[in-house]
Formats: sequence, C-alpha cells, structure tokens
Amino acid sequence: MGFFDRFSESQDMGIDLGTANTLIYVPGKDIVLNQPSIIAIDTEKQVAIAVGEEARKMLGRTPANVKTIRPLKDGVITDIKVTEMMLRKFINEVRGNSSPSRSRIIIGVPSGITSVERRAVEEAMESSGSLENIEFIDEPIAAALGAVLPVAEAIGSMIVDIGGGTTEVAVLSYQGIVYSDSVRVAGDEITEAITRHLKRVYNLIIGERTAEQIKMDIGSAYPGENDQQEMEIRGLYMVSGLPKTVTITAEEIRAAISEPVGVIVEAIKKTLERTPPELAGDIIDRGIMLAGGGALLKGIDSLITNETGIITHIAPNPLKCVVYGTGKVLEDFERLGRVSKKG
Ligand SMILES: Nc1ncnc2c1ncn2[C@@H]1O[C@H](COP(=O)(O)OP(=O)(O)OP(=O)(O)O)[C@@H](O)[C@H]1O
Ligand SMILES: [Mg+2]
Repeated sequence: MGFFDRFSESQDMGIDLGTANTLIYVPGKDIVLNQPSIIAIDTEKQVAIAVGEEARKMLGRTPANVKTIRPLKDGVITDIKVTEMMLRKFINEVRGNSSPSRSRIIIGVPSGITSVERRAVEEAMESSGSLENIEFIDEPIAAALGAVLPVAEAIGSMIVDIGGGTTEVAVLSYQGIVYSDSVRVAGDEITEAITRHLKRVYNLIIGERTAEQIKMDIGSAYPGENDQQEMEIRGLYMVSGLPKTVTITAEEIRAAISEPVGVIVEAIKKTLERTPPELAGDIIDRGIMLAGGGALLKGIDSLITNETGIITHIAPNPLKCVVYGTGKVLEDFERLGRVSKKG
C-alpha cells in the first residue's frame, strides 16, 4: 500500500480534527491518516498546494504567493473556508475518488464548542462531499474511551487532554461529563513561551518549529536529572540581523514555560474542587489520566501529582486517544452510541 490506504467501498470514519493534528480512524483498518492540521495555499489562485506534513515542511519557507495556514486555532475553527479545503483534502487522501454513502462519521469536538463552531465543522464535512451521518462526540469522552477509562460505568474518572490549542479537564461518570473545564492554554502556548524567552533574554528570533523542537528535546515541567542538559539554538540575532547560535539549558526552559504550565495545573485543581465527593474519592483511588500531545512534556505527570496529591498517569498513546475513542464508539455503537450526539 502507498502512503495512504485507498478504499473503494463505503466506510465509517472517526475523526479527531485537532488544532495541531488531524487523525482519521477506520474500523478494521486502524488509523489511516495522521497529519499536522496545516495547509499551504496559493493566495493568487486560491487553491491548496499541500496539506499535512508536506505543508508543515513549508512553514516559514514559502514564497510570497504561498501561505501556510493552521486553520484551527485554540481548538476551534477560525477560518471555515480553509478548514473545509484542508478536511476535503485529507478525506480525499483516505477515500480516493469514491464517495461512499450511508456511512457514519464521528468527529471529536471540544466540549465548549459553540453552535456556530459546530455548524462550521458540519459545513466543512458537507463540502468535503461527505453527505453521511455526522455525529459529534465531546473530545474528553473520546479521549477517556481511547485511554481505556471505565467511561460506561458508574465510576468517576478524570481525564486531562492537553492538546495544541486547548486543555480540557473533565470528570466523567456513567458515559457523561459530570463537570468539565477548558482553558485555551496548551502545547501552542508552551511553545510560544519558549519563543518569547529566546527573544527577551538573547535577542534571538526563532521559528515555530525550532521552538517546538526545544520543547520536545529539553522542555520539562518538573525538576529532574536532565536539568543541566544543554541545547544549541540557531536563530536570527536582532541586534545584527545575522544568524547566531546560543546555548540554553533545560532548567531555564522549565522556568520560561512555567506560566502556561501553571495555568493547566490550576484548571485541574479547580475541577477537583468542584467534583462531587463520591467521584472525587474514585479519582483519588484511580488517579488522573493525561492525554493529548501535551502529556508528553517531560515531568508534567510528576508536577500534577505533586500539586494535587493525586497519582497521575499518562495514557499509552496520548496523541491517539481521541481518535481511538471515536473508533470505539463506531465499533460498539449499540453500547456507546449514546455518548455521541447528533449535531
Ligand atoms: N514529546 C512532546 N513533548 C512535548 N509536547 C509535545 C510532544 N509531542 C507533541 N507535543 C505537543 O502536543 C501538541 C499537539 O497535541 P495534540 O495532537 O493532542 O493536539 P490537538 O488535538 O491537535 O489539539 P487540540 O486538542 O487543542 O485541538 C503540540 O503542541 C505539540 O507541540
Ligand atoms: Mg485534541
């Protein structure tokens, strides 16, 4: 098979349309698409040149007539038309030219989504040629299902999904959200804090990809053995306008990102305070579960354990929890169908 599996028959799909990454799951096939939510557009001809990883490689390297866009910001759709273009391209990559009928699509959306935003997702789906049954599922529920929490039972669980644009904290019991909170601070804000730090302290301008790389390589939320780890960073020195290399440490990056990381911790604490006592007891017994790419920030689990006194686990595939959750609903619609809702 090539880069993407091609299908000719009708098929159900589970979609995680995320700020940072879009994933598509097909029952019986596993994840068939996993790409950054980025599109490169020719601004003169108004056509898409590339999507996903291909478009990401162009980030910060495009000629004047090409624009790379992340159409979802803060976990919601900021540009409906561009989102439609991107989603259409992704779905075409999965389905080729076939247009299956009567299939079911379950799409994860932030729990705080407004009806206007929800309508925008539907429009994006419809203009993608997907005339089938579209249902929405709250992302925290999907993430919890994907992280194998006992969502269908009368047991309280806490899921924290730290994505690119939003962090969603939810207490779930018996297939429903008992209480949830969402803050528009997540991986992107952490990356931006690194960019700001290099500019402020070293007068160094770095691109988004470099800042993200720093976060993944030496970023951390909690003191650890790697604190003295160093990294050489190349950027543009504002004073001379020329390239320059500086050396930074893991410890200074932890300090630089402590503010957005703190906002995430506060959202968790606030949710715990509002959780009914019986369910809080369950959470204390079973721990907090982290999902989303932000769960991969080194030491974030230790920090949360330390700040809340509750043991914190990282889901096995944090970046895939939401899409696996949508897949579970597709595969067991009789039992889990009521967690999704018609748009
Ligand atoms: N190893 C890592 N260390 C730290 N952060 C990481 C790591 N891997 C990925 N991330 C971050 O995870 C974020 C993307 O996570 P994810 O794919 O779950 O977001 P999303 O679902 O697209 O966004 P949202 O749910 O907000 O719409 C990015 O900010 C990325 O930088
Ligand atoms: Mg997400």
